[in-house]
Amino acid sequence: MRHDFATDLRASSGFFSAHRTVRQYATGPGDQPIQLPPDHLETLLYAAQRAPTDATAQLYSVIRITDPEQRARLAALTENAHLATASETFVLCADTRRVARLLEAAGYQPGHWPAVGVHFGVGDAVMAGQNLLIAAEMLGYQGCWVGGVLNNLPAVTQALELPEGVFAFAALTIGIPAEEPPCAPGYRATWLFTPMSTATPTYRSCCAA
Ligand SMILES: Cc1cc2nc3c(=O)[nH]c(=O)nc-3n(C[C@H](O)[C@H](O)[C@H](O)COP(=O)(O)O)c2cc1C
Repeated sequence: MRHDFATDLRASSGFFSAHRTVRQYATGPGDQPIQLPPDHLETLLYAAQRAPTDATAQLYSVIRITDPEQRARLAALTENAHLATASETFVLCADTRRVARLLEAAGYQPGHWPAVGVHFGVGDAVMAGQNLLIAAEMLGYQGCWVGGVLNNLPAVTQALELPEGVFAFAALTIGIPAEEPPCAPGYRATWLFTPMSTATPTYRSCCAA
């Protein structure tokens, strides 16, 4: 066990303390997104692929949005302007369709996914996205999850031409931060040792200052 590393990880100058959601990114001429070096992009996608997946079913898809017009449209629909300016904009989707396509391609008749497929798919999408975000932060970038896809989900679904069985859980932007947000919020719920029905949530600070 690496006890010294454990201390480092939760230190006020450590990796997890440095996490900030960032919504303003450095841009190039004409406010265009700054491209990530190809190996950084590969690393982010690899990290997403290495996330755990419920029942090994991989019921998720990561869509990389590169077209500037589509980015601008998604920025407007989600009411999150940084979708247009981030170095990378991804949409994390629950996807019960892809595995059906794989089964068909292998000559099998896909079954019908029960409602639990949504549970699996959302969990998978979250884990893949968070792995990607952590990899980005390890490389010195920062990012923002965007649940704002729910602000206009039907229009987002249409804009992405999502087929049946695929729905957007959230977007995720990654880039070079152009702001230094404070640690927020200062206190977060921590674990409960008593039954939830009777317990008062316990809070403790997770901010250095
Ligand atoms: C699933 C999810 C959806 C989020 N959606 C948005 C969003 O649509 N727009 C936004 O500006 N921030 C969004 N956030 C970022 C949160 O506001 C942010 O994580 C929270 O305020 C805590 O701040 P911190 O990440 O800097 O610690 C989202 C975060 C999560 C996990």
